[in-house]
Amino acid sequence: EKAGFDHFMLKEIHEQPKAYRDTMGTRLDASGEKVVLNEIGMTPEQIRAIRQVHIVACGTAYHAGLVGKSVIEKLARIPVETDVASEYRYRAPIITPETLVIVVSQSGETADTLAALREAKRCGARVLAITNVVGSSVAREADDVIVTWAGPEIAVASTKAYTSQLIAFYLLGLYLAQTLGTVDEAYIAEVVAGLQQLPEKVESILAQADTIRAIAEQVSTHDNLFFIGRGLDYAVALEGSLKLKEISYIHSEAYAAGELKHGTLALIEEGIPVIALATQDELFEKTVSNIKEVKARGAHVFGIHAEGDAELAKVVDRTFAIPATLPLLTPALSVVPLQLLAYYASLARGNDVDKPRNLAKSVTVE
Ligand code: F6R
Repeated sequence: EKAGFDHFMLKEIHEQPKAYRDTMGTRLDASGEKVVLNEIGMTPEQIRAIRQVHIVACGTAYHAGLVGKSVIEKLARIPVETDVASEYRYRAPIITPETLVIVVSQSGETADTLAALREAKRCGARVLAITNVVGSSVAREADDVIVTWAGPEIAVASTKAYTSQLIAFYLLGLYLAQTLGTVDEAYIAEVVAGLQQLPEKVESILAQADTIRAIAEQVSTHDNLFFIGRGLDYAVALEGSLKLKEISYIHSEAYAAGELKHGTLALIEEGIPVIALATQDELFEKTVSNIKEVKARGAHVFGIHAEGDAELAKVVDRTFAIPATLPLLTPALSVVPLQLLAYYASLARGNDVDKPRNLAKSVTVE
């Protein structure tokens, strides 16, 4: 049932190209220029009435929601807040009938996420669910559901569900933008074309798993490390760090690269590994100067950059290139080497990759 892979997690990492294709599926129209989301029952008037979006989720799904915030704000120009579900209800969030609440849950059964959904409905908001399980509690109670067609996810560490959630956010962002007219059609077509190319770009990353494995084996001998990045790279850094902690039990922290010097830089010492994501053109120079700050304090830096960029190699110890794509779409590629990093680090430490200690696949307690 692991289809020749040693672990479900590795199998699921390799299933991502298919999960991307299945999640996009018929939601991209035949012309390849726009998005069709027949499952969204909101009328254009209802969409135009949305004043704010709240994205609520836990763990990895929350990290997908952080990318979702950037995507919706950029494409649909609606203000978005992303909250951890176990915090959301207790901060007396301002939810009105003009709020669209998006809950994200692979299982559709996470207690805090479900409770957030109920609270949102009680306040009169419309709730849209992004979930991987048709017929789950979240799917049944939401007003609209975008199903991620990742297929069953068995490994406790979420991989293909996360990336399918990203695809769902891209589709939703484009759909809202089409309705609102917030970006021009040419850009929508460009993003759609970029989405269609993602599966084969993921394949090309997977073909380089051995390179990541070598880095992971080096990382696995350390007890502490950092992930840094700016913007979307920061959102992916958070997910990479969670994945590594969860299955390798190595302590790591993800930091917004520009925030290090406000305290955390004190922890950088000789030889500490730092995984630096620098895939965003607009932020590249700023990220490089933050990388130089950790290098100057002895960090051993693994840089992740977009193919074609030769600059990062000059400032870091080792690089890994992801295929070039639109800046907005990079999370769907840059997270893949981080998933592999976590997997191989866990393997090198002899851990039970698919069933990490203390964790459950579906969290039905608050
Ligand atoms: C981490 C992981 C968890 C889940 C979280 C939410 O790899 O799997 O952080 O993402 O427990 O679960 P769902 O998405 O089922 O609500």
